[in-house]
Amino acid sequence: MSRTYHLTTFGCQMNEHDSERMAGMLDQLGYRRVDSREEADVILFNTCSIRESADNRLIGHLGEAKRLKKENPDRVVGIGGCWSQSLKDEVFERFPFVDVAFGPGQIPKLAEYLLSDSLSAQMGYFDFESVSGSLPMRREREFQAWMQISQGCNCVCSYCIVPSTRGREVSRPTADLVAEAEALAADGVREITLLGQNVNSYGRDLRPRVPFSELLAMIDAVDGIERLRYTSPHPKDMREDVIRAHAELPSLCEHIHLPLQSGSSTILKRMRRTYSQQRYLDRVALIREHVPDCAITTDIIVGFPGETDDDFQQTLDVVEQVRYDSAFTFIFSPRRGTDAAEFQDQVPHPVKRERMERLVDAVQRIATERAQRFVGREMDVLVEGASRTDPDKLRGRTRHNKTVNFSGVAQPGDFARVEIMSATSTTLAGEESLLARLS
Ligand code: 5AD
Ligand code: SF4
Repeated sequence: MSRTYHLTTFGCQMNEHDSERMAGMLDQLGYRRVDSREEADVILFNTCSIRESADNRLIGHLGEAKRLKKENPDRVVGIGGCWSQSLKDEVFERFPFVDVAFGPGQIPKLAEYLLSDSLSAQMGYFDFESVSGSLPMRREREFQAWMQISQGCNCVCSYCIVPSTRGREVSRPTADLVAEAEALAADGVREITLLGQNVNSYGRDLRPRVPFSELLAMIDAVDGIERLRYTSPHPKDMREDVIRAHAELPSLCEHIHLPLQSGSSTILKRMRRTYSQQRYLDRVALIREHVPDCAITTDIIVGFPGETDDDFQQTLDVVEQVRYDSAFTFIFSPRRGTDAAEFQDQVPHPVKRERMERLVDAVQRIATERAQRFVGREMDVLVEGASRTDPDKLRGRTRHNKTVNFSGVAQPGDFARVEIMSATSTTLAGEESLLARLS
């Protein structure tokens, strides 16, 4: 009987994509995926270290793995990803039941371990290695794919643990990426999301250099890829050529995720973001000029060390000015080994909570208002499957990256024309326009 594995993923899209590669590799080794840890011979976690809340959730899950390992010592417990990388060999001291630990992107090392004869010895793999596109991949979604275009990050944001967990930035060769996009298109993929920790600084380490906008144009030209997205860019590298590409390239969607982090230039400086409030707003103005209907989303941290009421007010001011289509909001969480964790002027927790509430209220109010512009429009929706809330309805996404629940007859992978009837801060509701379908 084939051996089985169970895999739990935490964190960002990059990790979800790494997990697809892990799954692809385990499939190739003859392992079968199962839905419960009890049934699994190999229990795997792909971990995140971005915030403390992620650590806490993971530790709960690890408790179960410990019990199962005790029950059957032949089981293998593996921890990969950023949190594992940040602890390195300490993983084995803190969690003695773990057999194998590895950093992000080191999936081949997991295979090496599983194929070796020494399954009983604990092994850790934490050396950074450059990405390889040749790993097999088991896509979670049939018509949409991620493509990792670079690994690591050269930024030095003072709050962020990623540079220490994913190493320095290395771009994958452009020709490999185009070939991968072609292979994905041939396999039925209609939408590609390019992934990188700092996706729009792609190509600076290549010789000759390749501007990110050029890569976008090359992927846009691949037949069959009808939608192209990327995440996450850094505002400092959001140059005019990239913004113009959104207006010029047919597949490049009208959505830009532009992490703000703080609206106060003082705090931005302490975060080492290398842009000021004004420079950020200038980028937004340029987006609005070239792509007036573009959805803009963001990430914001509240309660960064030293954040005063006035600093926070400036964040709210930027939120009001930009009018984001949605925003991910985070309470600052000190991460071991980052500079901001050592800053003396930490903001008390109740103050952080109160600011968070005010921010979330503003973000939701504006997102709801912004979404109303879609009501009455007919929009192209890439159908993903049944609606999560009502199995009689379909679910899909617009180019603006809004989820739509709608009634209709389209199939997953189709582009449906949907008339939007109503909108909340997070989702749209509508009906497929069948006339358009017949014509
Ligand atoms: N505390 C809180 N939020 C953080 N982020 C990154 N590091 C931290 C931290 N230490 C947020 C940023 C980033 C998003 C992925 O997570 O907003 O853009
Ligand atoms: Fe992704 Fe960052 Fe979490 Fe790593 S630490 S999984 S890069 S969000």
